[in-house]
Amino acid sequence: MGMAPVYILGIESSCDDTSAAVILNDQILSNIVANQEVHRQYGGVVPELASRSHQEHIVPVVEMALSQANITKDQLSAIAFTRGPGLLGSLLVGTSFAKGLSLSLGIPLIDVHHMEAHIMAHFIKGSNSITHNREPQFPFLCLTVSGGHTQIVLVKEPLSFQVLGETIDDAAGEAFDKLAKMLGLSYPGGPIVDQLAAQGNIHAFEFPKPHLPGYQFSFSGLKTSVLYFIQKKIKEDPDFIKNNIHDICASFQYSVVNILVDTLDRAAKENGIKCIGVAGGVSANSYLRKRLEDLSVENNYQLHIPKFEYCTDNAAMIAITGYYKFLKQDFVHHDVSAMAKLKM
Ligand code: KG4
Ligand code: ZN
Repeated sequence: MGMAPVYILGIESSCDDTSAAVILNDQILSNIVANQEVHRQYGGVVPELASRSHQEHIVPVVEMALSQANITKDQLSAIAFTRGPGLLGSLLVGTSFAKGLSLSLGIPLIDVHHMEAHIMAHFIKGSNSITHNREPQFPFLCLTVSGGHTQIVLVKEPLSFQVLGETIDDAAGEAFDKLAKMLGLSYPGGPIVDQLAAQGNIHAFEFPKPHLPGYQFSFSGLKTSVLYFIQKKIKEDPDFIKNNIHDICASFQYSVVNILVDTLDRAAKENGIKCIGVAGGVSANSYLRKRLEDLSVENNYQLHIPKFEYCTDNAAMIAITGYYKFLKQDFVHHDVSAMAKLKM
């Protein structure tokens, strides 16, 4: 006896992207993301504007996700939404919408943790950008790197997460964004730094590497030392940034990626794990991807990197997490509230 097909609508609104996706079991049928251009000119996300923009986008984005999936609302089995962590005003829009829709359709509601969803993106069918058809084996060690988080997470089975270490100050994505701001580049800075770094020399400038116990990370010391370095150089040459932008980006990116890759490698070796992966917005970084590939070849790791569209914020990852929670009948009551801070 085969199981009835499960259609889940995923909704993501934790930061500045409004996204909706439809999944059929573990297969994505649609994944719509509306980016908010309004924040670019402010050099960061403005919470008030983000919340208003989610309100404008949510209905058309959900409608587009359903129509692209070629299904109607009444075919849905459940609604999954991001409960947190994130900006409260942004989370409220997706949470309220999901609650309303699940009530009106009379179908279950599933709450999803944003960072767990980044990891669960690995379990979307065909998501692996390297081997395409291979899901991670357990135990699976995942480096989660986004604008708000930097963690090493041990995944023993789907939906079972143990945080082995995390950042004690800035997140990796935040470090990229802050460097971009120092250099007068726009927001989000990560993708721009990545592009500029491609033509730079990673050894042009050397920045200090922090040494922390366990699998902890720190990026604020690196940020400060780059800031002082640039201020000093500008005194000698007012055009220092302009004349060295590629090398600054490449050297900085090299430092951040070294910290990330070395810590992941150490955690894998010390815990005897052979299957590693990366999740979150920073996993879109081309140099990080290359270094993880080299590391995996050298150490015989099985490497998993989700396709680009499942790395940055998206609702497909919310839908796949919803699917796994649906299988466990892990539903939530309608009095659930959005949480800006939420533990894994
Ligand atoms: O996961 P995400 O889309 O949103 C959060 O949950 O935070 O991550 C966004 C972060 C931003 O800091 C952005 O600059 C960074 O990911 N990012 C990158 C790249 N693409 C996005 N950082 C470095 N290189 C990239 N190619
Ligand atoms: Zn994210």
